[in-house]
Amino acid sequence: MTPPLNSRLPAVGTTIFTVMSALAAQHKAVNLGQGFPDFACDSTLVDHVSRAMHDGHNQYAPMPGVLQFREVISAKIKALHGRTYHATEEVTVTAGATQGIITAILSIVHPGDEVIVLDPCYDSYVPNIVLAGGIAVRVPLTAGTFRPDFDAISAAITTNTRAIIINSPHNPSATVWTKQDMLTLQELLAPTNVLVISDEVYEHMVYDGAEHESAARFPGLAERTFIVSSFGKTYHVTGWKVGYVAAPASLTAEFRKVHQFNVFSVNTPVQHGLTAYMANPAPYLELPKFYQRKRDLFRAGLERTRFRLLPSEGTYFQCVDISDVSELNESAFCQWLTAEVGVAAIPLSAFYGNGFDQRVVRFCFAKEDATLHAALERLQVL
Ligand SMILES: Cc1ncc(COP(=O)(O)O)c(C=O)c1O
Repeated sequence: MTPPLNSRLPAVGTTIFTVMSALAAQHKAVNLGQGFPDFACDSTLVDHVSRAMHDGHNQYAPMPGVLQFREVISAKIKALHGRTYHATEEVTVTAGATQGIITAILSIVHPGDEVIVLDPCYDSYVPNIVLAGGIAVRVPLTAGTFRPDFDAISAAITTNTRAIIINSPHNPSATVWTKQDMLTLQELLAPTNVLVISDEVYEHMVYDGAEHESAARFPGLAERTFIVSSFGKTYHVTGWKVGYVAAPASLTAEFRKVHQFNVFSVNTPVQHGLTAYMANPAPYLELPKFYQRKRDLFRAGLERTRFRLLPSEGTYFQCVDISDVSELNESAFCQWLTAEVGVAAIPLSAFYGNGFDQRVVRFCFAKEDATLHAALERLQVL
């Protein structure tokens, strides 16, 4: 008999994404639930990776990543945000942002340390903190607007606070932190030893002419921050699971101690392929235009329903208030919508520790226009 286990993560079950994707498949629904593109990536990128494989780049990469790749990442951050992260000691290539986040947490959190997360938040943060023996302190974003509540954040900081995790552009609310938000956080943390994990995976999806205010732009934040990003979102290759963490040398040194016994290194040909592809900045510079058009197409269709549209300032998500459409709670509504209307969405309550239900659900518009039109046609009944 298999010996019984005392779970390290007793509160974790099947994620809502798995549940909704299975339901979507069962009902042949248009899946606007899970966040990934249903269109192909640039074939030039595939050519670069395939060439790297043919050229023999198929053995272990160096532990922190292929050096030329880290140099290209460093140059990109410098060009966009004006801060130099030294490729040798401040940039580490990770197996997606997910590994970057857990590795950052494991490298700084001791048992009993508190880590502030802002609810609603990406689902890996809290289990990561728990695995490190830390205590997740959930501070809600302002209800209705999802703006950071700095008074509440300030009140949550104690002598045990080791870090705060921030995420802009924000999944699931599609809000974007302003320069003033970042300045306020910088000021708030200045007298403390609190570190920051800044999840910036949607850095290139900011709309209406606004800018992504990376933590790299704010010296007082940059000196205490692990910036985490992912190529999956930027280049439509979520399945490749390649990202990076940029952090000051002393933080990176601790990060790499964990990284080398966690994944050791990330797949080699993709790193070489991305290095060649990133010589051209156009794909990421043009991404806001590419996604803003999809956002606008999707919103125009939703305007003809009784959903109340929330702003979508960034990411590839659109949230809607369902109050005028249904009496159901968010979760029941998403199941009904998938089964009866044939469109899958994600309830925002899934991103809250306490399951807070504000009658808001999230759609992903990183889809072919035809997919969006098919979804909108079905949603017109509402
Ligand atoms: C906010 C946020 N962080 C991290 C990730 C994970 O990124 P990756 O696929 O590179 O691990 C996602 C993916 O959906 C995300 O939305």
